[in-house]
Amino acid sequence: DDRDERVVRMLMFGKPGAGKGTLTARLAQKYDILTLSTGDLLRQHIEERTDIGLQAEEIVARGGLVPDDMMLKVVTSKLDNLQHKHWILDGFPRTIGQAELLDAHLKKRNMPLTLVVNLDVPDEVILSRISDRWIHRPSGRVYNMSYNRPRVIGFDDQTGEPLTKRPDDNPEVFARRLAAFYASTSPLLAYFAKSAKTANTHRPNTHQHPHQISFHTPSGLKVKTLSGTTSDEIWPHLDRLIHNNFPGLREKLETRE
Ligand code: AP5
Repeated sequence: DDRDERVVRMLMFGKPGAGKGTLTARLAQKYDILTLSTGDLLRQHIEERTDIGLQAEEIVARGGLVPDDMMLKVVTSKLDNLQHKHWILDGFPRTIGQAELLDAHLKKRNMPLTLVVNLDVPDEVILSRISDRWIHRPSGRVYNMSYNRPRVIGFDDQTGEPLTKRPDDNPEVFARRLAAFYASTSPLLAYFAKSAKTANTHRPNTHQHPHQISFHTPSGLKVKTLSGTTSDEIWPHLDRLIHNNFPGLREKLETRE
């Protein structure tokens, strides 16, 4: 049942450089969860020189936000692949307009969000991380020269291909990305908190239907803030949050390095 509250339908929310991509990848490495990063999708469009890529390139390069209608084109077809799966969206929605579009889309498909994780990391910490970041563009894998180094400096662990710097990872552009976050994205937290409250008040009256609760309640949306500054501070909390809230979620079988 797609309305089952034990399905992970999660947003990874946070400032640019907060660790959304890194932590999303860790969850997907451990659990049977699909992930969708709009930043990675846009970088693919830009590299492949699609119509969207050509329009987005300059906006991304100067640290602005791509307009909502263009973002919708980028994500809608991808969202349909997530049906009947556990999933995490990384970097979307980023404006109230995008959140409303996403809500309408998910409502039609009867798959309400179950979790919003807000990564709360101080600005100073993020600024220093960005200059240390290297990426493997084709996969979106992220490395950091002080936090998670590649095995061979300058090359991807899995493919051996060269790593690159993102063109928007310099101090001037980063300041603009942070400003866009505060102006357009941070108000979403209040929006989600309100949705969570509404979802919870729609729970059936447990006194009247005690035997129905475990199967038929539309779930409440949970909004959880995880704060941290040092490398592995947030991960155990996130892992426990997922483990405790989604007991049916399977771990991947292959052993981790
Ligand atoms: P996007 O790619 O989504 O960039 P972002 O939100 O700015 O986020 P980042 O990818 O910079 O950071 P992250 O939080 O994933 O952190 P990471 O794990 O890499 O978007 C890029 C651009 O596309 C936007 O600016 C915009 O123009 C456009 N765009 C995308 N989506 C859009 C949308 N929905 N609407 C409109 N426009 C959109 O970590 C950062 C660094 O820290 C890494 O080096 C990492 O190794 C390191 N690190 C991670 N975790 C830790 C830790 N716990 N301790 C120490 N270091 C850590």
